[in-house]
Amino acid sequence: MSLLRIENVDKSYGDEDVLHDVSFAMETQDVEVIVGPSGSGKSTLLRCVNRLTEIDSGAIYLNDEEIHSLDENELRRRVGMVFQDFSLFAHLTARGNITLGLREVLELPKEEAVAKADDYLDRVGLADQGDSYPAELSGGQQQRVGIARALAMDPDLLLFDEPTSALDPELIGDVLRVMNDLAEEGMTMLCVTHEMGFARSAASTVTFLDEGRIVERGPPEQLFENPEHDRTNAFLGELSGLH
Ligand SMILES: Nc1ncnc2c1ncn2[C@@H]1O[C@H](COP(=O)(O)OP(=O)(O)OP(=O)(O)O)[C@@H](O)[C@H]1O
Ligand SMILES: [Mg+2]
Repeated sequence: MSLLRIENVDKSYGDEDVLHDVSFAMETQDVEVIVGPSGSGKSTLLRCVNRLTEIDSGAIYLNDEEIHSLDENELRRRVGMVFQDFSLFAHLTARGNITLGLREVLELPKEEAVAKADDYLDRVGLADQGDSYPAELSGGQQQRVGIARALAMDPDLLLFDEPTSALDPELIGDVLRVMNDLAEEGMTMLCVTHEMGFARSAASTVTFLDEGRIVERGPPEQLFENPEHDRTNAFLGELSGLH
């Protein structure tokens, strides 16, 4: 039984086809990295997995359960998401951002939620920032709060949508270190990222998505050293030129 199975998914917006016949599966503890040009459907694909966006046809299964048969709250608890723009609540402290879901979705008592939040802040290297508001934190610190918030819900799968692309270069490393640690600890992660160092060190599989189709998918060494398709080669070449 795969942890996540995506079968023949299609999605359009109006007459624009965004995902075409996308199929792949992930096993527990896999780290899947998705790369592809802007507009290729990467964010849409992630959003379909936790039903922020509905698919037009095909099916998505989490532990063999079709995601539409799950309660939306239950699905979002089991599938955590880390966003490019952090998406923290500005009026809540770092701790408050984490306890919110613990209190409202998991219905934990306050003391337990606070203890858990502090534990996860510690895990992402922010033990002393629990009382800080997002505006008082750097982008890298805010993103680590975002990761702690997602982790605290004890998800089966974590989705990352370009988690470092809004960060200044010197802050990217702290976030990637946390992501690498999670991968090593066996967290199952589906990551849209163009951080090829992370892909090489942490990914079990890299998927190249272009114009809503999977062009090629394989272990990082295969995609990077020996891609089957010219299009993959050209795209990865452009990426490495940027870094
Ligand atoms: N809510 C929406 N309504 C209409 N069109 C949308 C919507 N969301 C995405 N699209 C379109 O779907 C296509 C794929 O968008 P998506 O955001 O999934 O691409 P992406 O690969 O994540 O791109 P980027 O690298 O720029 O983040 C784009 O052409 C986009 O304009
Ligand atoms: Mg995107």
